[in-house]
Amino acid sequence: MLTLAIESSCDESSVALVEDRRVLANLVFSQEAAHAPFGGVVPELAARAHLRKLPALVRTALDRVGVRGPDVDLIGVTRGPGLIGSLLVGIGLAQGLARGWGKPLRGVNHLWGHVYAAMLARPELEPPLLALVVSGAHSDLVRMPAHGTFEVLGRTRDDAAGEAFDKAARMLGLGYPGGPALDRLARTGDPTRQPLPVPSLPGLEYSFSGLKTALLYRIRDLGGVEALDEGSRADLAAAFERSVVESLLEKVRVAWSRWPVSEVVVCGGVAANSLLRRRAAEVVGEGARLTIPPLGLCTDNAAMIAAAAVHAPEEPEVGADASLGW
Ligand code: KG4
Ligand code: ZN
Repeated sequence: MLTLAIESSCDESSVALVEDRRVLANLVFSQEAAHAPFGGVVPELAARAHLRKLPALVRTALDRVGVRGPDVDLIGVTRGPGLIGSLLVGIGLAQGLARGWGKPLRGVNHLWGHVYAAMLARPELEPPLLALVVSGAHSDLVRMPAHGTFEVLGRTRDDAAGEAFDKAARMLGLGYPGGPALDRLARTGDPTRQPLPVPSLPGLEYSFSGLKTALLYRIRDLGGVEALDEGSRADLAAAFERSVVESLLEKVRVAWSRWPVSEVVVCGGVAANSLLRRRAAEVVGEGARLTIPPLGLCTDNAAMIAAAAVHAPEEPEVGADASLGW
């Protein structure tokens, strides 16, 4: 089954061709440069950039793989959650291609896509599995008993982990996008010099807003970010990163003890974080097999949408849903 997929939920324009969990092409155009001057994603600019870029990406993907549109068996497109204007651009293009080539079209839940990325990394991976999905807007612990079935065990009460990383990065004077910049800075820091609390709510819920406030007050007590040298900023970045990562993984441990399946997945943009990748391997340990997609399949990309499209429900009309849940 050859699937062509389009992802345009946020600020990455992406087109992929995937054949039976084998990634033939996964082109990702990051709009980072367009949004950087504004310190975050500007929805209107994002939609316009998708409109400019996506058709060319479709052509390039087909050319690179050496196939033609009519060779495609299925078209998948992200239907949500995400920025409504950006989603509509991807869906409009996908509808046109499906109509023109006479192919079936499936709308794909972006969150499902992050989990299915793990199956591109390890094609033999099958549910049941437990997944931690951590992105710019989500910190969800889900279980997947079978294909196309997800049950949320816990989520964040306030900020998502990626959002918390981005805001902490801004407090530390790092640029946009903040998560990767904080990750790099934290590598040179010592998390024990300026320790921050590890958020812990009862049950399987997350909360990162208190941790963010703790960082804000710590920076203020130290005289403001301008007064900090590079070493101190690195120590704070490392402390913040450690608190987020330990909090995320503690609940994975609790969830797994309640539902001890043999496969655990950590995915989503924040799964690109180097400490999370290292610590997850230690925390998950012997009892289960851990899969974390490679970096390019953790952050937003269309290959994960293609992998999920095969299991997405068939619907007569594919619509956009900005706040789609699991
Ligand atoms: O999944 P994703 O690419 O887009 C959404 O669906 O939201 O996730 C983006 C989030 C951003 O908040 C970004 O800062 C964060 O993932 N992120 C990271 C790293 N790489 C991306 N956070 C921490 N460390 C990283 N290396
Ligand atoms: Zn995402």
